Amino acid sequence: MAKQVLVCSSCGEVHQSTTSPASICPKCRGVLLFKYDLSPVANTLSREILATRSPSFWKFIEVLPLTSSKNIVSLGEPFTPLLQFTLGRGRYSNLWLKDDGRLPTGTFKARGMAVAVSTLKELGVSQVAVPSAGNAAAALTAYGARAGMQVFVFMPNDTPPRIIDECVHMGAKVHLVDGSISAAGQAMKKYGADHNWFDVSTNKQPYRYEGYKVAAYEIAEQFSWNPPDHILFPTGGGEGVIGLWKGFQELCELGWTKHIPRLTIVQSSGCAPLVTAFYENQREVEEPWKNPNTIAVGLKVPHPYGSYLVLRAVRETKGTAIQVADEEILSSMKTLWTNGIYVCPEAASTLAALEQALTENIIANDEKILLYLTGTALKYPDPFKG
Ligand SMILES: Cc1ncc(COP(=O)(O)O)c(C=O)c1O
Ligand SMILES: [Zn+2]
Repeated sequence: MAKQVLVCSSCGEVHQSTTSPASICPKCRGVLLFKYDLSPVANTLSREILATRSPSFWKFIEVLPLTSSKNIVSLGEPFTPLLQFTLGRGRYSNLWLKDDGRLPTGTFKARGMAVAVSTLKELGVSQVAVPSAGNAAAALTAYGARAGMQVFVFMPNDTPPRIIDECVHMGAKVHLVDGSISAAGQAMKKYGADHNWFDVSTNKQPYRYEGYKVAAYEIAEQFSWNPPDHILFPTGGGEGVIGLWKGFQELCELGWTKHIPRLTIVQSSGCAPLVTAFYENQREVEEPWKNPNTIAVGLKVPHPYGSYLVLRAVRETKGTAIQVADEEILSSMKTLWTNGIYVCPEAASTLAALEQALTENIIANDEKILLYLTGTALKYPDPFKG
């Protein structure tokens, strides 16, 4: 609701945020981000006022791109649990978990799609489409159904069957594609010529970040406005990390927090293009990852669009990039599961990365660390069965 423009994160061109939906920068194809005039928000809203509002996602409406709260499309988005975690006989002295498996459709993707669908509805969009490794498709399907939109999803045919069923049952037109999310994106482009849908692809529109950014506000408030030193985030396309970074930047601009956590991306060694680009000092992922293969399907993004922005988020916050083998992910999953936290492989990768980082002294064990758990295990096949 704050006054806003769209700024290209690559060439810097400022675009007025108009009444038609925006995709990428028309000048250079860079990623567009909303930029708000935050001073009126800082003058009228405060941490004290926020404390009087119920702990829901939409309490931060002043910093979202919607013009009216009447257009909110909601399935009930609570603050997700923040849990202190004790593990390894005190080896982790200050470790926290954020469990986004509690959101509608069971993953953090609900955040991005809640805001994207609400804003697009306000702009008059009635058809939406996305290529997805599964969870973004389920979230778009759910919010699209709630908004009365027609939803088209394109997924690899090895997407967990329950996620495919979820999309079918909630009314999406589901297309399954041989290959990874890149092939799904190409198939969508082919069909797109005959359709009038808005493309909600990862990093190709400015709306979904605004939902992930709410996680930064939520984390800040849950930590009494003194956020953790370091956040480990399972990363595929990178929207989650970019959104968090954007949120923490805004919080500092508003004067509500004093620092931005280090943002560390975690990938599977079966598909780690961002980690490779980070260590090879590339500005963006230059080559698509060949033969991507991991049980963490959401991390199987061989050539993420707009990868320069993910790498910028990591470098500017002095985070790092870690890859973990699927066996390490499985072992961390067991650890979390046997502590009552039933997360999917993508989420468990963060604990595997932390183990590695502590062993290699990349992270000091007195840092206040948050593992961002992006989803529930309930929708995935049992990885310990044949
Ligand atoms: C459960 C889960 N965690 C993490 C990710 C990675 O998110 P992002 O594409 O924003 O990097 C995904 C992506 O699909 C996912 O489904
Ligand atoms: Zn541009």
